[in-house]
Amino acid sequence: MFLENCEILENKLVAGHNYLMKVKGDKTVKAAKAGQFYMLQCKNGVYFLRRPISLHYADKENNILEFYYEIKGGGTKDLASMKAGEIINIQGPLGTGFTTEISGKELLVVGGGMGMAPMKLLIEVLSKNNKVTFIAGGRNREAMEIMSNFNLDGIENYITTDDGSVGIHGNVIVKMEELMKAKKYDMVFTCGPQKMMEAVAKTAKKFETKCEISLEARMACGVKACVGCSIKTKFGMKKVCHDGPVFDSETIVD
Ligand code: FES
Repeated sequence: MFLENCEILENKLVAGHNYLMKVKGDKTVKAAKAGQFYMLQCKNGVYFLRRPISLHYADKENNILEFYYEIKGGGTKDLASMKAGEIINIQGPLGTGFTTEISGKELLVVGGGMGMAPMKLLIEVLSKNNKVTFIAGGRNREAMEIMSNFNLDGIENYITTDDGSVGIHGNVIVKMEELMKAKKYDMVFTCGPQKMMEAVAKTAKKFETKCEISLEARMACGVKACVGCSIKTKFGMKKVCHDGPVFDSETIVD
């Protein structure tokens, strides 16, 4: 874990309240793993607490980190107000990411809404040595705008929207069931709204497939020093910022 002052290269509105920030880093980029997160310091120190933001992508050749985030309150609004050329202090990478040391497997990645954030890097890393299928879901076209920032060349992928404005009309579970009936997947990875992840985990279990889920929690310190992110699991209390945010779904979901 490193603390670094990074130059903001870009901080643009993607759609709705969702932003994409690109920063130039060094050690914070080299150590990055899919599924981890960073604590970003807000502008001017107005908000004392840093904001936990999922890693969207790490371009290790060019030392660039990408964060896809949503304005949820004053802190993230403050982040969204920062401009290219400004310096932001970031802390990370933090937490336990997805399992990526896998090869020769059939893998299914399911992202929903803002849960698409960790999937860009995850898909790139996994697809180097595995066959990856990606299902991306959201409420509407606006929620899917981030897809233009993904590189899905050679990746079997499907988009679903609740209102049918783009892709398949429906939710990710319908498509997931269809794919899992037709083919045996070795592992499922998911991030998205809680209800969606529970349904993905249950579907994976039905097809006897291991599943990893990335949880969201309120975080104050991000480094295991408070109790802000504690959750109850089948194996006792765990801290999302340290033991997660990625967990084996069997730990969390019945
Ligand atoms: Fe403080 Fe996890 S955010 S312990």
